[in-house]
Amino acid sequence: MKLWCVYLISIYVACLRVSADKPCAPREFGAGNIVCVCNMTYCDTISKVAPVPVDQFVQYSTSRSGLRFHRTLGSFSDSPHPGGVHFTLNLTAKYQRIWGFGGAFTDAAGINIESLSLQAKENLMRSYFSTDGIEFNFGRVPVAGSDFSTHTYTYDDVRGDTNFTQYNLTDEDFFYKIPLIKEAQELSERGLHLVACAWTAPPWMKTNGDYSGFGFLKSEYYQAWADYLVKFLDEYKKQGLEFWGISTGNEPINGIIPVNRFNSMGWTPWSQRQWIKDNFGPTLKKSHYTVKLLALEDQRFMLPWWINVLMSDKQVEEYIDGIAVHWYWDSLFPPSLLDRTHNNFPDKFILATEACVGDKPWEFDKVKLGSWSRGEWYMEDILQVLYLDIVAHILT
Ligand SMILES: *[C@@H]1O[C@H](CO)[C@@H](O)[C@H](O)[C@H]1NC(C)=O
Ligand SMILES: *[C@@H]1O[C@H](CO)[C@@H](O)[C@H](O)[C@H]1NC(C)=O
Ligand SMILES: *[C@@H]1O[C@H](CO)[C@@H](O)[C@H](O)[C@H]1NC(C)=O
Ligand SMILES: *[C@@H]1O[C@H](CO)[C@@H](O)[C@H](O)[C@H]1NC(C)=O
Repeated sequence: MKLWCVYLISIYVACLRVSADKPCAPREFGAGNIVCVCNMTYCDTISKVAPVPVDQFVQYSTSRSGLRFHRTLGSFSDSPHPGGVHFTLNLTAKYQRIWGFGGAFTDAAGINIESLSLQAKENLMRSYFSTDGIEFNFGRVPVAGSDFSTHTYTYDDVRGDTNFTQYNLTDEDFFYKIPLIKEAQELSERGLHLVACAWTAPPWMKTNGDYSGFGFLKSEYYQAWADYLVKFLDEYKKQGLEFWGISTGNEPINGIIPVNRFNSMGWTPWSQRQWIKDNFGPTLKKSHYTVKLLALEDQRFMLPWWINVLMSDKQVEEYIDGIAVHWYWDSLFPPSLLDRTHNNFPDKFILATEACVGDKPWEFDKVKLGSWSRGEWYMEDILQVLYLDIVAHILT
């Protein structure tokens, strides 16, 4: 009997060893630009944080000089320490709740991930979604084509098909998005929140008859467009996937100031308010999906103005659950715009839904492997969004 116990313990210790973190296998692309190699035979891991005693803390460091999720244990002390940092924890002051972090299941992501060997793909997906990795728990899903597609398309490009008899998901859904989302869901322990977002309505519903350019939804198709979006939820449900949220559509400003040639559709806040009030809001409610409605889905500089216009109608305010914000131009527009929006509508959540470096026309290197400076842009933006109140509190 005793022997048996010892045997069990030794298995347990061996398992612990196996599940310890695998360190970063660094590879450098120019000075200070380090990536961790994740290939078919090796990928670094980060194990879940186990509870530590109340006077201790776990610190993870990532640095330009090459540390990646480097774990150290520290302890707090009660006595003041010359040159040390003094923390006061105020348990009654509560700031925002963080729902999580995520990425997007775009066509481009799917094409790249599916080009890997099976084992490399498995390692990549584990490092994003599993408890061995960073546990992404949000996934944005473009409704048909986006600016991360190889071509322009919608789910029903047949003119006048307002009953959607020709509506169909595409190869991009069946071969890239749906299988990858399912794989991510299986790897995820905490569950994956999916947020749907359409870039444009079919050209035949639009004033300019095109996928992009200066164009708006024709008012006679306001209801058809709401039906199309709910049909998307239906089609994904048939594939076993349900959504946590759906937005009013990607970057409406691109259909007013069309500098890019990718799927886009313009709204003004007044036309969007009308569509939410008369069509999208009631259609979603009737659909019985408990899906959250996200408004704006565009840049910070449009806050709080755009949301103020939408919310000026009480019915529209009731339909909207939250505000989706993109990060382009954040270097020019302060995070206080988020605070102002929050103060106007404290019961609506704010979610950052798109961030990408290399988007500007003058940024010729679309991919810069391991770029530390690009990493800093993301870090700065995330810190602004998460800690603004706290930073303001320390400064005042
Ligand atoms: C994968 O990366 C590791 C760590 O850099 C390396 O030792 C190994 O040879 C690589 N395997 C393949 C198949 O490239
Ligand atoms: C703690 O936070 C509450 C709520 O913000 C505030 O009223 C109170 O003054 C704070 N206490 C201290 C000691 O700063
Ligand atoms: C859509 O279906 C309705 C009801 O079956 C029918 O009356 C209408 O003509 C159809 N419209 C189109 C454009 O096919
Ligand atoms: C819809 O797409 C699937 C997968 O590409 C295909 O098998 C099916 O025939 C299509 N249906 C229609 C009505 O086009």
